[in-house]
Parts: sequence; C-alpha cells; structure tokens
Amino acid sequence: MVGFAPLYPPYKVITDSSVRKILVTSALPYANGSIHIGHLVEYIQTDIWVRFQKLRGNECYYVCADDAHGTPIMLRAQQAGIAPEELIAGFNAEHQADFREFAIEFDNYYSTHSSENRVLAGQIYQSLKDGGHIISRTISQAYDPEKQMFLPDRFVRGECPKCGAKDQYGDNCESCGATYNPTDLKNPISAVSGATPIEKDSEHFFVNLSDFETMLQEWMSDSNVLHPAVKHKLNEWFESGLQAWDISRDAPYFGFEIPDQPGKYFYVWLDAPVGYMASFQNLCNRENIDFNEFWSADSEAELYHFIGKDIVYFHSLFWPAMLTAAGFRKPTAIFVHGFLTVDGQKMSKSRGTFINARTYLDNLDPEYLRYYFAAKLGNGVDDLDLNLDDFIQRVNSDLVGKIVNIASRCSGFITKRFDGKLAASLADSELYQFFLDKETVIASAYENREYNKLVREIMALADRANQYVDQYKPWVMAKQADKEVELQAVCSQALNLFRVLMSYLSPILPLMASKVEDFLAAALIWKPEPLLDHSINKFKPLMKRVEQKQVDAMIKPKETKEAEPEFLDYEDFAKVDLRIAHIVKAEHVEGAAKLLRLTLDVGEEKTRNVFAGIKDAYTPEELTGRFTLMVANLKPRKMRFGFSEGMVLAAGPGKKEIFLLQPDDGAKAGMRVK
Ligand code: 2FM
Ligand code: ZN
Repeated sequence: MVGFAPLYPPYKVITDSSVRKILVTSALPYANGSIHIGHLVEYIQTDIWVRFQKLRGNECYYVCADDAHGTPIMLRAQQAGIAPEELIAGFNAEHQADFREFAIEFDNYYSTHSSENRVLAGQIYQSLKDGGHIISRTISQAYDPEKQMFLPDRFVRGECPKCGAKDQYGDNCESCGATYNPTDLKNPISAVSGATPIEKDSEHFFVNLSDFETMLQEWMSDSNVLHPAVKHKLNEWFESGLQAWDISRDAPYFGFEIPDQPGKYFYVWLDAPVGYMASFQNLCNRENIDFNEFWSADSEAELYHFIGKDIVYFHSLFWPAMLTAAGFRKPTAIFVHGFLTVDGQKMSKSRGTFINARTYLDNLDPEYLRYYFAAKLGNGVDDLDLNLDDFIQRVNSDLVGKIVNIASRCSGFITKRFDGKLAASLADSELYQFFLDKETVIASAYENREYNKLVREIMALADRANQYVDQYKPWVMAKQADKEVELQAVCSQALNLFRVLMSYLSPILPLMASKVEDFLAAALIWKPEPLLDHSINKFKPLMKRVEQKQVDAMIKPKETKEAEPEFLDYEDFAKVDLRIAHIVKAEHVEGAAKLLRLTLDVGEEKTRNVFAGIKDAYTPEELTGRFTLMVANLKPRKMRFGFSEGMVLAAGPGKKEIFLLQPDDGAKAGMRVK
C-alpha cells in the first residue's frame, strides 16, 4: 500500500504500480420498493470501506444498480397502470437520491434492465450451454387460468396444510413455520386475480450446479474468501447435495428473453449478479477503464461483494459457477453481514421501526446513522441492533461531546487572538506522533471491516486529546497576559490532534470531514504532517446534538386526522380522472357475498379489473355491455380476490337500490368526463 491521496477534491488516484485495483459491489436493491434503514447497514458498511481504500490511494470502484426484473415488478407496474420501465425509472431516481443524501458515493449506479446486462447475461448463458451445463426439465407449477400466468410461490395464498392458518403464502406458513409447496395449500387462490390456480406443465432450463462442486470447494478453501460461519453453512449445502438451479421463467415476465428460447425469460436471479459486471462495464465505457483488467480469468484486481446473509447461496454458489463457466474471474471475497433489528426486535411497521431512508432523512442527520452503524459493525454475520436510546447517547457523547468538543474549545482563541494562525511548532510532538502511530491498527481494522474496533481506538484518542486540553485549560490561559505563546501552542496542538482524528473518521463521516477541511483550510489525509504557521477559518458548528424528540418524530405513527367533513379544493377534484367505461364482462366472485368482478374497457390497450359491491342490485347479465362511469386514476388496491384497478361510480341507499350512473347514448369507452 502506498501514497495517500486527499479524500476531497482535488481527489487523485496515485498511479503507482503497487496501488491495488479493487472493484466493490453492494447487493442490488429491488426496483419496486424504497430503501430502508435495514438496507442502509450494507450500503454504509460498503461505502466506508470504499472511502477508506480511496483515502489510502488505491484504485477502487464502487458499483451498484437497481435489480429491475421479475414477476413482482411486472405486477406492481400493472397495478399502477404503467409500463415496468416507468416504474423502475421512478424507483431508480428515488434510490439514487436516498443514497446521495446518506453520502453513499457510487462510482456508478445503474439498472439490470440495461443493454450491457442483456449482452453479458446472454454471453454467460451461452457459455453455460456450450459447456453442457444447461439441462431441460418439464415441471408442474401453479398457474393462474384467469391471468394466464404461472404463479411464483409467493403469489399463491391459502390455508396452511399443517395448522390450517388462513391466508398463508405458497412456500411457508407464518403461523406455524411449516414449509411446503404451493400445491399443498388448502383452498388456494391466486393473489393476482383471486382465481383458483391450476397445475400446469412447462419446460424449464436448469444449471447443473453439481458440475462446479470441485471448483467451488477449492475456491472457498482459501481462508480469506468467506467468513468461517458462512463457510460452515456452505459445507452443510455441499453435504446435502447441490441441486440443479432453475434459471428460466415463462412469459409473461419482465426480464430478458432467453436468446434461443422464445417465450422463456431469464429468472431475475440469473441476470441480477451479472448486473454488477454490467454496471462496471457502463462505467468503463464512460471513463475509459479497462473492463478486462478486472474481470478476465487471470485478473490481478480484487473483487469484493458485500451482501446480507440471506443471499449467500446465490453469491457463493451460483455466481462463481456462472463466472467460471464463462471464463471470468471469481470474487476475491464475499463479505456477509447480518440483519438489522431496532430496539432488539425485527423492524416493524406497527411499532414505527420500519424506517425508510427518506423518513430518517426527514428527521435526522445521516451521519448519526453512519457513525452508529460503524460503531457497532464487526466483520461477522451477527445481527446488528439499533438501540434508539443508545443511538442518541452515543452520537451525543462521542461525536458532539468528544470529537467536535476538541475543536470548539480551541478554535475561538486562534481566530480571535492570533488572527486565525496556528503556532509555528508543535507543543507536544510526541503526543502527535502517538496519534499517528495508531494508523496501523486503525488501517488494519478498516481493511478487516472491524469498524467497531477502530471506532473504539479513535474515541480513546479523542479522550486523550480532551485530557490534553483539560490539562492546559486554554480558557484560563486566555486570561493570563503572560500565557499568550502557550495559549496559541496548546490550541494549535489540540487542533492538529483533531485533524488526525477527523482524517481517521473521514470514511465514516465524509460530510463532517468536508466541513472540517473548510474550517482547517487543509485536506484530511492519512497520517498528515502537522499544520504549522497555517491560517485556519472561523469555526462553524460541525454537528448538532441528537434530540429525543427527533427520534420520537421519526418513529411516531403518522397522526390520522379526525374524520370531519371537509370541502374539496377544485384542484383536488380536477385530479380525478373520470371516464366512461364499457363493461365488457361481469362475473360472480367465488366466495364473495357482495362483489362482482367487472372487466372494463376505458379506451386503453388493456382492460381494467374492478371489483364492485353491487351484487345485490345487478346480475352479471344485466351489466355486461352497459356503459358506466369510473374513476380511472385511483391507485390499484389489493383485495382478497385480487387487485381492483379503479372504481365504478354508483349511488343509492344500498342493497338492491344501488344505481350505476349511465351515460347518454353516444358514449364511447375511454371518453373523459369534464
Ligand atoms: O435480495 C435482494 O434484494 C436482491 N435484489 C439482491 C440482488 S444482489 C445481486 F445479485 F444482484
Ligand atoms: Zn401453519
């Protein structure tokens, strides 16, 4: 390891032959949901590591992307009445904004729905095929006859075959924990349409994972590749035998069509990890980086994937197998972390502890969380607890009470009494050297992702710096006319110690580090020479204390207003997209006392599925062929029998007396009502 480059502009990578070339990834978040603080454990952990590598002058790239394919994304877009491309573009923008505000600095953030990914996924598949590793089998699966699609396990619901609990997923029971196949559920229904699923055969393509067993065993035998606890898990999988992996899905599916298999698509997990390469490829094209230097089989670059413990199988078995088959290098190591709990429990919506990144940002400084996670993160797979009381206490006492305190107690004297100039020599160079000598232990803790250890080291140094200030009491010296020189010396010494501490902390607190660089008018670099005879700027507050009320506001369930009659603004009313709908089909819904399922033509390419509680008033036959009014831009709602994609307007006291409004003759499906 050589040379030290400043973290902040002008940031330069030192081009020395011993500079390490490192490519780092975090798991790709799905493109149909918001980032929450559970996700952030990983992104913060990775970002700190990458910033440390860059600070040390290594050529390090951090890439990520949205994981944009799969059935849930396709269905979510359908519910919203938009194309999947539109849905994933919206989430991509949201994710990037959240990451940016948490100071998670990717070199590239992309999407798996990209041309680079299509080509690379196709190439890897072709290599697997050419190597004889793809087998085809006919399998029988739950199929929704109404929606005409195969149903992933999660989209079949019914009664648990073991304990009878209602409304359970097709793969496991949340009530008794039993695992089973969707076909074992009693009274199953499709969560997509409410129809009863049937069993249907289809040809699928599988990767014969056992072909790679020897290679995988050898790869993981290197002690640095996986944490012992993860290796242990892998050994269990080897012992129970590697199963062939189903990599195909039938249309309709949002993903990449398999090049030589029309109507069949790559399963999202086939092209997701390829998304790491594709994002990097996109970066390489933009910045003229040599892709092969990082991915060829004989690459000397290092490749690290940070992931959660739930996706180890994909990354430590399938992914190295895919890479090997296609003649690419394998990961240098896979860094696995545990899950986040809040106050000792799983994050929960009802307790308010399922906290989205945006909710956090609306209430608290992102660097509190970066620091708190760092203070608790080791390199193991244990879960990490965000204890909210401890969070407040720790941030206030460590960051505000210890770190910022050093600077805030000394800077004023330098500004007011010495025109912002630091002393020309160090008062205690031994102490300064002591701080620099901690560099080895702190650097190796960063390298090994033992952030909790290095935070302890840094805080012990902060205690030492505060003791130094307490010992000389600049506020007392300031009142003694003969202590001018000492006053400047002591404050300059303390500010130089503060600078060393902040450079150690800069990968964790990059935003505060940047403010400190402005204040000290100097870059935060690893092992800095002291600032002597150097002008600094006026001190500005670097970080506020966390207040209990901010945390309370973050976890407090949003207050629901008392229902009181309110007038609607015209602007709100104008938002309602009222359209004439042609009732193409009306049907009974099995098991529903009041509902009819209406298939409505509102002048769009696809018809809408709407459930209406008008069964007492109309028979399906009376409705079919009629026109009615509908609210076409109501958010789709998931009902027990499927999704309702709008609302039909009806009026009346109820039961038999519900009247559908009927437009005049001349109505046409899709006409907007003004
Ligand atoms: O588990 C998940 O959230 C996946 N979207 C992670 C994908 S990581 C990689 F393989 F793409
Ligand atoms: Zn059960």
